[in-house]
Amino acid sequence: VLAKAADLEAAAPAGAYVQEVTSVQHYTDRLFKFRMTRPASFRFRSGEFVMIGLMIDGKPLYRAYSIASPSWDEELEFFSIKVPDGPLTQHLQTIQPGDAVLMKKKSTGTLVNDALVPGKRVYMFSTGTGLAPFASLIRDPDTYEKFEQVIVTHTCRDVAELKYGLDLVEATKNDPLIGELAQEKLVHYASVTREDYPFKGRITDLIENGKLFTDLDVPPLDPAIDRGMICGSMDMIKDTKVLLEKAGLTEGANNKPAEFVVERAFVG
Ligand code: A2P
Repeated sequence: VLAKAADLEAAAPAGAYVQEVTSVQHYTDRLFKFRMTRPASFRFRSGEFVMIGLMIDGKPLYRAYSIASPSWDEELEFFSIKVPDGPLTQHLQTIQPGDAVLMKKKSTGTLVNDALVPGKRVYMFSTGTGLAPFASLIRDPDTYEKFEQVIVTHTCRDVAELKYGLDLVEATKNDPLIGELAQEKLVHYASVTREDYPFKGRITDLIENGKLFTDLDVPPLDPAIDRGMICGSMDMIKDTKVLLEKAGLTEGANNKPAEFVVERAFVG
């Protein structure tokens, strides 16, 4: 049984906030999203991650999670995998509104607008829960100020796993704050690898054979105007990175902005 936020508040572990779950939505037996309260003093840059945790057997257990909500949102949103024997996610997947979630006080990460040099078009390449940091960035007006076109690719095993992203993009295009910008600049490209769907295949294959670019009606990757962000499994990052480097883009970081940046999605 998980602790209620009210019960844990007085006994917050050192350096952590105790927050309260406000909503939970399950998509498949592997994926769910949850939202929770945001501490008034907590600031972050859209695209960053934080350490999220639960008290397990009286001890705090944390894992890195990308914040899926934008920096202006009054709540915090997370998009999580469920691993049956995952030390944290076997418990996290059972959370209900009112339950306590721990969060360490400092966020960090390289999937931020500041780590990219200016460009015309930004590609956000994601698989699975790797969409999370981009769910934050596509709801941030700064992203649309920096780029003329924002292309988010999301590849999953099956169609049901695309649901979070499909709902997200629809809600973003109807949002009172950024809806108009998103309608003008945001392109969502969803593909699946293990089921029939209009767009099929790994993103690496779709880049390599050029189908991504013909489907989107854009020219091939060009380091003069295109920027990239990558978030997925270790292998997905490695393979996608090779393709961006082959196209002439160089990897950047917070202290050295360049043409693309990468981060590993939370995995267990
Ligand atoms: P595939 O079905 O061919 O394994 P997962 O949920 O296992 O993280 O996978 C999410 C998506 O990422 C799947 O569609 C999967 O394709 C794809 N994927 C897995 N490994 C790679 C890789 N090295 N490069 C590109 N896409 C990958």
